[in-house]
Amino acid sequence: MFSRFSRRHFAKLTGLSALGLAAAPASPADGGVERATERHAPSPFPEGFVWGTATSAYQIEGAVHEDGRGRSIWDTFARIPGRIEDGSNADHANDHYHRYKEDVGLIRDLGAKAYRFSIAWPRVFPQGSGAPNPKGLDFYNRLLDELLTNGIEPYATLYHWDLPQALQDRVGGWQSSDTSKAFADYAGYVAERLSDRVKNIFTLNEAGRFLDFGYGWGIDAPGLKLPLGELNQARHHVVLAHGLAVQAIRAKARAGTRVGPAENIAACVPAFDTPEHVRAAELATRELNAGFLGVMLEGRYTDGFLEYAGMDAPKFTAEELKVIGSKNDFVGLNIYAPQFYIAASDKKPGWAALPFPASFPHMNSEWLRVGPEVIYWAPRLAAKVWNIETIYISENGTSSEDKLGPDGQIYDLDRVMYLRNYLTQLQRATSEGVPVRGYFLWSLMDNFEWIFGFEKRFGVYRVDFETQQRVAKLSAAFYRDVVKRNGIGV
Ligand code: BG6
Repeated sequence: MFSRFSRRHFAKLTGLSALGLAAAPASPADGGVERATERHAPSPFPEGFVWGTATSAYQIEGAVHEDGRGRSIWDTFARIPGRIEDGSNADHANDHYHRYKEDVGLIRDLGAKAYRFSIAWPRVFPQGSGAPNPKGLDFYNRLLDELLTNGIEPYATLYHWDLPQALQDRVGGWQSSDTSKAFADYAGYVAERLSDRVKNIFTLNEAGRFLDFGYGWGIDAPGLKLPLGELNQARHHVVLAHGLAVQAIRAKARAGTRVGPAENIAACVPAFDTPEHVRAAELATRELNAGFLGVMLEGRYTDGFLEYAGMDAPKFTAEELKVIGSKNDFVGLNIYAPQFYIAASDKKPGWAALPFPASFPHMNSEWLRVGPEVIYWAPRLAAKVWNIETIYISENGTSSEDKLGPDGQIYDLDRVMYLRNYLTQLQRATSEGVPVRGYFLWSLMDNFEWIFGFEKRFGVYRVDFETQQRVAKLSAAFYRDVVKRNGIGV
């Protein structure tokens, strides 16, 4: 069998042909290669499936001092020595504020018809509340016009972690329900002015992350380590902000505007596919998400959550729970890694999270364990537990080393492998009727990855942060192909 491999075959298999080291391009007469490159019918996604990419304001915009933008807690936090691994900040980031037209062109070149971006609260209300800054909103007017001119549907997120510093200073940020109310006013203000063009609005991005990381463990902005009782109270203010914002958007936006959260669901996978483990994973999904997604979707904290919190449970009123449980039009799930493999248990509460072996594989980011089946199970379990009708995968993607090859190209084969496997599992979900209607790849381009600075790269376009040059990676070509075929070849 090995004798059938010519030097050319070998070069193709090892990627050398891409570096110009193969003897000659394969000819159709060359049977083996022809078979290897035959196109199989892709596994299709439903008609009208939304293909998009995602970014967030602080991670790409730069221009932090321009046009009256106020400071955010991340501007402050990134300046504290030792907080950002490479000592950087996002003062310039991708300079998207000035290069947005070029960046919209990158989306268009992928063939993607949707784009999830976030609006910087401190651009619109530099002090968090009070006097708005029309120049700040103007940037998003320009961006929206550019997107629509290019046939790209905007999906706006109102909060991707850049809280106005003024609110942190004045009322302690999410420690106060004043911040929840200020968020609702901001949401209503934006919805009133942009909903002629933005039909889909995500309220908060990953409440579960920014609160616990920023106010509990102190590793994200604003870097606080609150005791559990205060942390749970802040958690309550965050979900209250979501509910108040849903109501404000309904009151101010044009008819037909759709709204929902984008949450990093505590993603459960049954240990393996038996009815007992699946049932256990459903129970675990409900309990492990009770403090965020659960209360937003049920309008109540579970008994398990309240019991577990005990004296540290948040204080709340029935009226607040009603607001928090305001009906959403869709639910965004950010899904990167399996967080819990769940097995049925004879002991209360009927399920157990299994320990991860140290050898469990991960991608370039250590936290990013590889488990493609999570993008099948997490939406399936969520849809079942909360009876959700419309789900978007509001983020999925991976970091990769992304070194420039000698030919100036980036062969991010690990990202392609990751996307191929995750999308195959997502296709499995949609073909079984799990109501996932769209997918937003994180990220359009490399950007400021929070505490990792510019060291971690998640884009399908590489960004040189010195020259601001953008270069399509191999994964961009892969994704373009998926979008074009509305399906994934495996
Ligand atoms: C998501 C965030 O949780 O993960 C993104 O919504 C972020 O903003 C992405 O860029 C990658 O996370 P990290 O922590 O590795 O930068």
